Amino acid sequence: MLSSKELRDKAKELVDAHYGDNHKKRLTHIYGVAEMAGFLAERMGLDKYRAEAAGYMHDYSKYDDFDLEKLYLSDEDQKECEKYPFLYHAYLSAYHTRELLTDDEEIYQAVRNHVFGRPGMSTLEAIVMIADFTEKNRTYDDCIRCRHILVDDGDFNLAIVESLKATIKHCEEEGDIPHPKQMLVLREYEERVKKNKMTLEEILIDCVKKVRGTDIIVYDMMNRSPFYDKMILASVDSLRQANAVTGYIEDAFKDTEYKIRNVEGGNTAWVLVDCNDIILSVFTKEEREHFALEKIYMDYPATKIED
Ligand SMILES: [Fe+2]
Ligand SMILES: [Fe+2]
Repeated sequence: MLSSKELRDKAKELVDAHYGDNHKKRLTHIYGVAEMAGFLAERMGLDKYRAEAAGYMHDYSKYDDFDLEKLYLSDEDQKECEKYPFLYHAYLSAYHTRELLTDDEEIYQAVRNHVFGRPGMSTLEAIVMIADFTEKNRTYDDCIRCRHILVDDGDFNLAIVESLKATIKHCEEEGDIPHPKQMLVLREYEERVKKNKMTLEEILIDCVKKVRGTDIIVYDMMNRSPFYDKMILASVDSLRQANAVTGYIEDAFKDTEYKIRNVEGGNTAWVLVDCNDIILSVFTKEEREHFALEKIYMDYPATKIED
């Protein structure tokens, strides 16, 4: 099996041989995408050679004869490409990547989805997609602006949001309908940007509200506890709601710096989630009354959150 560096070298050889001396400008763009993808992967702690390999292959089929080559695609893909012809080159480039280079599924998906990504895509897929939009040879204003957000500000998610907004706008100006996946990816990354701006307290309250928690009180423990900055109490109607909160928190913490340290009381009427700086207690109403923590903490500065 080839090492990732050998894979990268082979991808470059393939694309060089495929284009020869034709389409020099395309080849310059392809080199730019591979370079940007490698840079981003390294910065994000991923294997830069795999990202470069996908970068080299991403536009492999740009000038192929789609009428002939579409036979390589599934019926479903062909139908999709008929409606959105700009997908032909991505799907065919992915096909050739698998045929000629590697059966690495993530590289295949990164090439296939490089035009606007797909919901739930991997970081490598997102890297190749944004590298395509922001590589150094792109001179459109929107590309320059996104490159700045990505490289100088280091805001990967925001760069993806802005690049998608720009391509959707461009699509609409041309009188085309954006692909539904484009809108889903935009929403997903807008959510990530929003999440990254929310404080731990805001995220936890949001999760409590998702399980229809009420009577939310935030106690400030800053000067009184060596362990926690804040404690949040909330009531729910059922055991099921109390237990569901942990799942929402796990989801919300994805792509943030926050972590759950410990969960106590799973499947009981009092679930306690230790999130390092903040500890959250979700009770059924009866359990909350029974333990009456409010009495113990009545001297602590408290903020009541609107239901
Ligand atoms: Fe492309
Ligand atoms: Fe491209």
